[in-house]
Amino acid sequence: MKQILIDRYGPPEEVARCAEVPGVGAPATGEVVFDVLAFPINPADVSFCRGTYRLKPPLPATPGAECVGRVTAVGAGVSDVKPGDLVINLQRGNWAQQRRVKADDVVVVPSGMDLRQAAMLRINPPTALLLLTDVVGLESGDWVIQNVANSAVGRLVIRLARARGVKTMNVVRRASLFPELKALGADACVVDGPDLADAVRAQTGGAPIRLGLDAVSGRATAASCATTAR
Ligand SMILES: NC(=O)c1ccc[n+]([C@@H]2O[C@H](COP(=O)([O-])OP(=O)(O)OC[C@H]3O[C@@H](n4cnc5c(N)ncnc54)[C@H](OP(=O)(O)O)[C@@H]3O)[C@@H](O)[C@H]2O)c1
Repeated sequence: MKQILIDRYGPPEEVARCAEVPGVGAPATGEVVFDVLAFPINPADVSFCRGTYRLKPPLPATPGAECVGRVTAVGAGVSDVKPGDLVINLQRGNWAQQRRVKADDVVVVPSGMDLRQAAMLRINPPTALLLLTDVVGLESGDWVIQNVANSAVGRLVIRLARARGVKTMNVVRRASLFPELKALGADACVVDGPDLADAVRAQTGGAPIRLGLDAVSGRATAASCATTAR
């Protein structure tokens, strides 16, 4: 089977190679084997390849925090997962054609689910939900500001905030994104720039912003904070 390996840490396009490796073998007791059908490339995967992620295993290593797959075999004692099930994997190392993992590490998802959506189910949706629920107690009508609003997490924040009546101020790098983000439920959009705080206030009418989500850091953090100052 094919598997992505990195032999040293560095830019993914330089260090990641596709290797031909032996198959994963038959599942042992309590294990399942599945064919990987799709996996995303998350920013964390890029950091992993670069060696800047919080996990830095001995090399060679296989990136891939997420995937979706179809179960091909289950080991003795596995009763809640069966061949043919569509599953997502809670373990890493998913940039490969096959995985053999503990049955407890897979979650069965609906068989008709869009594969690309299923492959991205494990990380970004819970992250967006936790950002909205775990930091401050947001009430309906409260404002949240986020940069990188066009990211997968940013788009989920828009949808989940809208469902709670929480208003989102979405900072992006180009105005052409506004219609798409507004169609998702964005209350306001603004292009990043030196006058960010003024541009935000013009749209909120100076209403307080209860939460700021920053995925850029550095000066962008200060710029986001300035929009929340009253
Ligand atoms: N549990 C966690 O800690 C956790 C989980 C998931 C994600 N994250 C973090 O959340 C962020 C978004 O992840 P994602 O998977 O949703 O990302 P994504 O879908 O890959 O999108 C990346 C976004 O980053 C924007 N971007 C790239 N460089 C930028 C820069 N220099 N200035 C401003 N914007 C820039 C891009 O903007 P354009 O659209 O303009 O190209 C794009 O919207 C990442 O920082 C990721 O590491 C953390």
